[in-house]
Amino acid sequence: MDKKIFSGVQPTGNLHLGNYLGAIKNFVDLNNNKNNECIFCVVDLHAITVRQDPKQLRNNIRETVATFIASGIDPKKSIIFNQSSVSAHAEGAWILSCVARMGWLNRMTQFKEKAGKDKEKASIGLYSYPVLMASDILLYDATHVPVGDDQKQHLELCRDIAQKFNNDFEVENFLKVPEPLIQKEFSRIMSLKDGSKKMSKSELSDLSRINLTDEKDQIINKIKKAKTDPLPMPQNINELEDRLEAKNLLGIYSSLTNSSLKNSVEIFAGKNFSEFKEKLSDQLVNKIDPISKEIKKLLRDKSYLDKILLDGVEKADLIASKKIERIKEIVGF
Ligand code: TYM
Repeated sequence: MDKKIFSGVQPTGNLHLGNYLGAIKNFVDLNNNKNNECIFCVVDLHAITVRQDPKQLRNNIRETVATFIASGIDPKKSIIFNQSSVSAHAEGAWILSCVARMGWLNRMTQFKEKAGKDKEKASIGLYSYPVLMASDILLYDATHVPVGDDQKQHLELCRDIAQKFNNDFEVENFLKVPEPLIQKEFSRIMSLKDGSKKMSKSELSDLSRINLTDEKDQIINKIKKAKTDPLPMPQNINELEDRLEAKNLLGIYSSLTNSSLKNSVEIFAGKNFSEFKEKLSDQLVNKIDPISKEIKKLLRDKSYLDKILLDGVEKADLIASKKIERIKEIVGF
């Protein structure tokens, strides 16, 4: 085996282009290499760190599985499962939360952003969320974790937790310290309405993101309405630093066409945004519309999706339960 891949996606609905270009597209490439062992987790325990409607959550779990498959992940070549069905994740999170330090968690910027001004009212789960993430990864001895740029800090924490556990209990290399796999370019897709804000499922305006369930007309309309600036398209890559919206849209175009940002800037240099937006819409429709149609098709066959999860849970549980037993022994249970 080349790499042991583990990654997770929250089933909170509205999976979008940021999730796709930042993470899921990478999952598909890694999954296509038959030397990799891939595990993709629908992290429903993470989802409930903010309030979820139970009925909706159940649908969103299936929709996340459907999105994986519609994007090109082959369930025969990978393990796809949901986190809450493998109890080792929650058990591991508790034990690791006794290893992780408050000072480390206090530095997590995502908690600060998500909790906002009123952090007294945030759930404890939202605060300790990165420890659960560490449990996810460490239970499977993952060597590589493909994620978008926003998860980088959580992965550093996971590495610190693994090292401290190994040191504290004198079990050298027992918990494997994983490497993040973050794409160099386009690892942070920004909102279509504000180039300084991450594209996100929690953003109120649906016009700020392309959802993976959007249809052709919605995609075209959102790109038409996407924020730009009054200047013509940038002449060179240096101009992008001050032109965040242009940078983001060109980044999306580059990622979809597998070309460099520099190359895309050169193609459209000096042209009107409207001309570029047409080309961008074409690329997006080509990529997203088939995924969107496939998601909807798969969602009509709930028993197929449930079967994938059931198979995945069985396989994941076999691996995770062995590791958690060893962890329990090591800590003295
Ligand atoms: P989540 O569900 O918020 O996002 C899933 C993946 O999508 C990436 N992503 C983005 N990438 C680029 N631009 C964006 N605008 C954008 N928005 C989201 C995320 O970086 C992520 O890779 N904590 C994780 C889930 C998780 C996990 C894990 C990941 C739980 N356990 C173990 C890896 C390993 C999360 O909330 O992702």
